[in-house]
Amino acid sequence: MNSSQTPGIRPMTAADLDAVLLIEQSSFPLPWKREHFLHEITAPHSFPFVAEIDGKVAGYVCLMSLFEEAQILDIAVAAEQRGRGGGRLLMDKALAVAREKGAEVMALEVRESGAAAIGLYRALGFRQTGIRANYYESRENAVLMEKNIKEKP
Ligand SMILES: CC(C)(COP(=O)(O)OP(=O)(O)OC[C@H]1O[C@@H](n2cnc3c(N)ncnc32)[C@H](O)[C@@H]1OP(=O)(O)O)[C@@H](O)C(=O)NCCC(=O)NCCS
Repeated sequence: MNSSQTPGIRPMTAADLDAVLLIEQSSFPLPWKREHFLHEITAPHSFPFVAEIDGKVAGYVCLMSLFEEAQILDIAVAAEQRGRGGGRLLMDKALAVAREKGAEVMALEVRESGAAAIGLYRALGFRQTGIRANYYESRENAVLMEKNIKEKP
């Protein structure tokens, strides 16, 4: 992210959704719709956050945390802001909130071609636990990853 400014991380609100949807649509072949994000904003076990720079949404993460298991449902950073630490900040926030809610494991799935995302998750200590063949609409495989989050790294 902009090296002169640290992005602020705060809960996502409905007012963020125009900006969130622009990032979502330019990041994924089958993007989430507004209703998905609205659900995350209101669902009791969902904790969506945005990263904001100069009042502008630069990225977001959707976390679900229920009993001992947390899941990353969606994460993206605007293309022009990638590689500047925003993804890591969003994941750090999700990990902190999941721990606070009592989760012991964080799980996620990622496209096999998602090198940046896989790099980010590996850097955070996630390990591959399996492959789901032909999982995505394009028949691409999903890589399943997990991290024990009971204790801080
Ligand atoms: C994945 C994504 C959120 C990462 O966000 P980001 O802000 O660019 O990531 P950061 O700058 O915080 O990078 C953190 C770490 O991730 C890894 N990483 C980031 N980009 C990478 C790349 N292109 N290749 C390999 N590793 C990468 C590195 O370990 C990096 O740490 P370092 O900078 O100290 O080397 C972003 O690339 C994105 O939005 N991608 C499209 C959407 C997507 O694939 N979402 C994941 C769905 S599961």
